[in-house]
Amino acid sequence: MTELANLEDLFKHMLQDMYYAENKIIKALPEMAKKATDPDLQAALEQHLEETKDQIFKLEHVFEICGYEKKREKCEAIEGLIEEGKSLIEESEEGAVRDLAMIAAAQKVEHYEIASYGTLCNIAQKLGHKDAAKLLHEILEQEKVTDQKLTKVCDGIEDQALEKAA
Ligand SMILES: [Fe+2]
Ligand SMILES: [Fe+2]
Repeated sequence: MTELANLEDLFKHMLQDMYYAENKIIKALPEMAKKATDPDLQAALEQHLEETKDQIFKLEHVFEICGYEKKREKCEAIEGLIEEGKSLIEESEEGAVRDLAMIAAAQKVEHYEIASYGTLCNIAQKLGHKDAAKLLHEILEQEKVTDQKLTKVCDGIEDQALEKAA
């Protein structure tokens, strides 16, 4: 018999996966913020750390609503994204280049989250978990706003880096 027999099993598994991922992200964000040079980038990362803490509470609420165990299922994808991001940041020259490397790494994580929460939100609706779907949608929107904010910060840093180079 397979472990994930139905849509509810799959939903639960994916939630536990994101619960693991958010707990990983919470550890990575302060380290990144410390290494950021641009004050806007630092502020964006710090703000997203607070949002991520709130997302963990939201996920715990979803577990309660659905009657699932609050369990962290190891998420290989986030492990890989964070590891790769860390080495990219470490290999980059301090200043604008490192900031841009950080944004690149952070946006990959945001896009992974957007994909995951989009699917989770859809499945929650299909399963009739309306309140859970609402919470998951709130998280999804936070991730989208963060991604857009990072793009804005990125544009500013690129312009500065180009001006310097000119
Ligand atoms: Fe998140
Ligand atoms: Fe995020």
